[in-house]
Amino acid sequence: MPLLVLGRAGAAASLRRCLVSRRSAHRASVPTEMSAWQIHRYGGPEELQLTTSHRLPTITQPTELLIKVHAASINPIDVAMLGGYGSTTMNLMRQLCGTLEFPLTLGRDVSGEVVAVGGGVSQFRPGDQVWAAVGPQRQGTHAEYVAAAAGSVSLKPRSLSHVEAASIPYVAATAWSALVVTGELVSEGTRRDRRVLVCGAAGGVGSLAVQLLKAWGCQVTATCATDAVELVESLGADVVVDYTAPDADEHLKLMQGYDLILDCSGGHGERHIPLMKPWTYAKYVTLSPPLLKNIDADGLVAGGVRNLAELVQSNISSHTQGRSHRWAFFMPNGCALSQVRDLVDDGKIRPVVQRVVPFELVPDAFVQLQGGHSRGKTVIRVVDEPPAPSEPPETDTGAPSSDRSGA
Ligand SMILES: NC(=O)c1ccc[n+]([C@@H]2O[C@H](COP(=O)([O-])OP(=O)(O)OC[C@H]3O[C@@H](n4cnc5c(N)ncnc54)[C@H](OP(=O)(O)O)[C@@H]3O)[C@@H](O)[C@H]2O)c1
Repeated sequence: MPLLVLGRAGAAASLRRCLVSRRSAHRASVPTEMSAWQIHRYGGPEELQLTTSHRLPTITQPTELLIKVHAASINPIDVAMLGGYGSTTMNLMRQLCGTLEFPLTLGRDVSGEVVAVGGGVSQFRPGDQVWAAVGPQRQGTHAEYVAAAAGSVSLKPRSLSHVEAASIPYVAATAWSALVVTGELVSEGTRRDRRVLVCGAAGGVGSLAVQLLKAWGCQVTATCATDAVELVESLGADVVVDYTAPDADEHLKLMQGYDLILDCSGGHGERHIPLMKPWTYAKYVTLSPPLLKNIDADGLVAGGVRNLAELVQSNISSHTQGRSHRWAFFMPNGCALSQVRDLVDDGKIRPVVQRVVPFELVPDAFVQLQGGHSRGKTVIRVVDEPPAPSEPPETDTGAPSSDRSGA
């Protein structure tokens, strides 16, 4: 079947077509249509519609590749985007790429097989087993095929099934961005023995961040609710504090002197800023910045000004004590995924899969995730494969798995 390449007038487009078609000689056989969960307007899970005859995504850049999705996952960003979160900014980015807003396929994580590559892709070939987290401005992975930028892709861990692997890329790229890019834990020297507090350690990003930090040799204190203490301890955290206990803040105070706080709890960790070392420019890194929300509410210019004012305001008190307050964002990053893959295959990072949902039940999975209290990740099985022994069984109920300790 021919792989569709967006036709555009002009020499650039024909060059691109040429680059794509030369390499496409190596592509696997792919259909022209696929199933995908799509929305045609923002709202709740009832807006999700399964289309069984959607045109396959196209490779529009020589640096893109097409992946057959074996498993995907759901993140809080998907629930938020379903409700329209970030649409002003995403639409600007889509306009720059010449793509439309609707129909919109959600889903950022994929584990699957490369079926075609653009002419500028030399590091992957059809048949490669890969994982990726695709940017939020792109069409997503809750579909049978997805087009991704090669820079966001890496070979998947050999030791994981596709279902297990699909639980990791988005949270790993987010944790990497927060800890390495924003938190500046860039080298072995800046990582070893750093004292890090992870707030919200039982969720998707937190459970990955704890393992990444331990693999780097950091000293990790982590907060979570009572039922997740055992899980977070099993991930290697040195100290786990039950944030629901009346003396939780006293416990955290005993361990004060953090070099970095990673807040994966929706901003609840901000009150712990005074527990960071003063005068070392210790960093409070939050994954819940108001950036996109402000732009959605006030537009690009007024929202941008408000963002600047809020960032300055939040830093004034921190800076007067030699600390800093930073906003972190997910960034697609295939190189980071390669490093995480090696840690997975070395047994230093394991997937934490709370539940596995069949492709037909994607809307149910959104309802479940809306309920909060995540313990690791919700994965969507797209291709039926024999489950790995460590995977939790598929669930089709509204209730979280009774074994909340994950994989
Ligand atoms: N900026 C970005 O680009 C970006 C990217 C990814 C994620 N995020 C955001 O980062 C946060 C973490 O993402 P995620 O995927 O890990 O979400 P998640 O899977 O929903 O995990 C959030 C965790 O925080 C826990 N929690 C809630 N309140 C808490 C508190 N006061 N203290 C300690 N833990 C608390 C929750 O458990 P309980 O409710 O049971 O306590 C849950 O386990 C979310 O707010 C998400 O929207 C932002």
